[in-house]
Amino acid sequence: MTKVSDILAIFLAGICAGLVSFSLQADASKTAVPQKIEAKNETFSAPHPDQYQSWKATSEQSEQSDALGEDPRLVILWAGYPFAKDYKKPRGHAYALTDVRETLRTGAPKTAEDGPLPMACWSCKSPDVARMITEQGEEGYFHGKWARGGPEIVNNLGCGDCHNTASAEFAEGKPALTLSRPYAARAMEAIGKPFDKAGRFDQQAMVCGQCHVEYYFDGKDKAVKFPWKNGTTVDDMEIYYDNIAFSDWTNPLSKAPMIKAQHPEYETWRAGVHGQNNVTCIDCHMPKVQNAQGKIYTDHKIGNPFDNFEKTCATCHTQDKASLQGVVAKRKADITEIKLKVEDQLVHAHFEAKAAWDAGATEAEMKPILTDIRHAQWRWDYAIASHGIHMHAPDVALRVLGTALDQAAQARTKLLRLLATKGISHEIPLPDISTKQKAQLALGMDMPQLNAEKQEFLKTVVPQWDEQARKAGRLSQ
Ligand code: HEC
Ligand code: HEC
Ligand code: HEC
Ligand code: HEC
Repeated sequence: MTKVSDILAIFLAGICAGLVSFSLQADASKTAVPQKIEAKNETFSAPHPDQYQSWKATSEQSEQSDALGEDPRLVILWAGYPFAKDYKKPRGHAYALTDVRETLRTGAPKTAEDGPLPMACWSCKSPDVARMITEQGEEGYFHGKWARGGPEIVNNLGCGDCHNTASAEFAEGKPALTLSRPYAARAMEAIGKPFDKAGRFDQQAMVCGQCHVEYYFDGKDKAVKFPWKNGTTVDDMEIYYDNIAFSDWTNPLSKAPMIKAQHPEYETWRAGVHGQNNVTCIDCHMPKVQNAQGKIYTDHKIGNPFDNFEKTCATCHTQDKASLQGVVAKRKADITEIKLKVEDQLVHAHFEAKAAWDAGATEAEMKPILTDIRHAQWRWDYAIASHGIHMHAPDVALRVLGTALDQAAQARTKLLRLLATKGISHEIPLPDISTKQKAQLALGMDMPQLNAEKQEFLKTVVPQWDEQARKAGRLSQ
């Protein structure tokens, strides 16, 4: 691995020489937000054509895979929560806005006041979020339902999400990275990483860590908050959530108060071997490449680093592509094996808990069991919801899943004893959950209705949003 340190040294000497410093607002409560946000990405195509074109090319990553279809157990684990309706795996940044409009999770609101979800659900989709926060403050942005933001949040995830686009440095072609989300800036401070004092590599990862993190909705306005007060490991955040008695929802089968992990990529990357060596998201997902004139620029087509192997892994590693891909694929298979074991245990636990309630179990009898289920599923979700964890931190994934399996086993042992005291000694049968449709049916979900409402919403409400935005000058065309 001598090559790694050599390359890192060159990297530091060469590219960091051009490192720019840029001023940020000092006020900790409103850190790092530029004065003015231009959310229209097209504004920057002429001054920064290479970055703009490569950013646009994330639209080539259009494949969308249906996680619930691949694994219907998820429907049971997330029963009673919007994720049981629809959950697709992530695709290119170009689809962020489209996908949040199209997912069944956001429902089919007819007016600005209709639910089901809060404004917070726009937060990782668009530079218009940063624009609104700069113009109206966080309260001004967060209050109300998701539908209120329809005519406002109209430009796709882009330049203003990661750059201080109003700065002179950016105009000159320097990165001028920024945290455009003040809640992310506060969270970074809480873990001892104030953005304006951070080094270049730290800052690079932190811009991704505005969105690729665990968060929850806090308070009356349901504002985005990261649960990082005690740290960013699965244990730290579990303690945090327990201490504030937070739950995202109650699973209607087991009645357990659940926590839904979002996508803690930043947290798991930090704990993995690359994060520990400060090899950042950018080294793998946004390599430096050359344009036709030989000018070096940052490739903004964020996708799978294996598609660009020579410019990513191979800048530090001497192994060939096939062997490194083999290592990563093996780790993915190992993690998937344990993940499915945890899911099977949890599916049984939810139905066994339901059987215990039905047999007259009391709150006091159920409490320790529901806590075990809560912890087991949180741990499982932290590991699997962190996309790419088999690459970023496979050791973390296996440990976390191991603890999830243990917690689920504890829940089921207690359930077995409790059921016995109620005279139930037979195995609790599961309904047919062999497909997504059957699992949703088993929960009594009316999917044809939800789908029809969504189609109507996309046909009638969304075009009005775009029309209003165009009239207000918030869209380029
Ligand atoms: C998801 C975050 C993100 C988005 C979105 C993004 N950038 Fe970047 N950009 C970066 C990072 C990270 C770097 C490299 C920083 C470094 O080298 O330290 C960078 C570098 C740059 C640079 C400096 C020159 C270079 O190529 O290294 C320019 C100019 C730039 N981006 C323009 C844009 C434009 C224009 C858009 C919108 C079309 C955009 N960026 C969208 C993260 C982003
Ligand atoms: C403003 C929020 C935001 C920021 C900042 C952000 N992302 Fe994302 N990222 C998303 C969302 C949302 C998606 C999923 C888009 C979809 O599926 O519709 C995504 C998807 C991805 C994907 C999956 C792409 C694919 O083709 O499968 C990768 C990889 C990724 N992001 C890496 C990064 C990296 C690296 C950075 C930092 C340079 C970054 N992201 C910054 C919100 C963000
Ligand atoms: C050492 C290289 C490396 C670093 C550092 C790294 N990634 Fe990745 N990441 C990968 C690879 C490779 C994959 C795809 C793995 C595969 O082929 O299954 C991936 C996958 C992902 C995915 C899932 C994409 C999908 O479609 O499922 C996301 C999201 C992501 N990375 C975000 C990040 C973020 C955010 C960071 C920094 C906090 C980061 N990555 C740091 C190499 C890296
Ligand atoms: C900027 C340099 C850099 C880049 C780019 C990079 N790595 Fe690494 N990689 C490292 C360092 C540093 C280590 C830790 C070495 C050590 O501790 O011996 C490491 C360790 C590893 C390991 C062994 C550690 C483990 O997890 O067991 C694997 C496998 C690996 N990298 C795969 C990849 C892949 C695949 C890519 C591309 C997607 C990649 N790396 C990109 C620097 C890099």
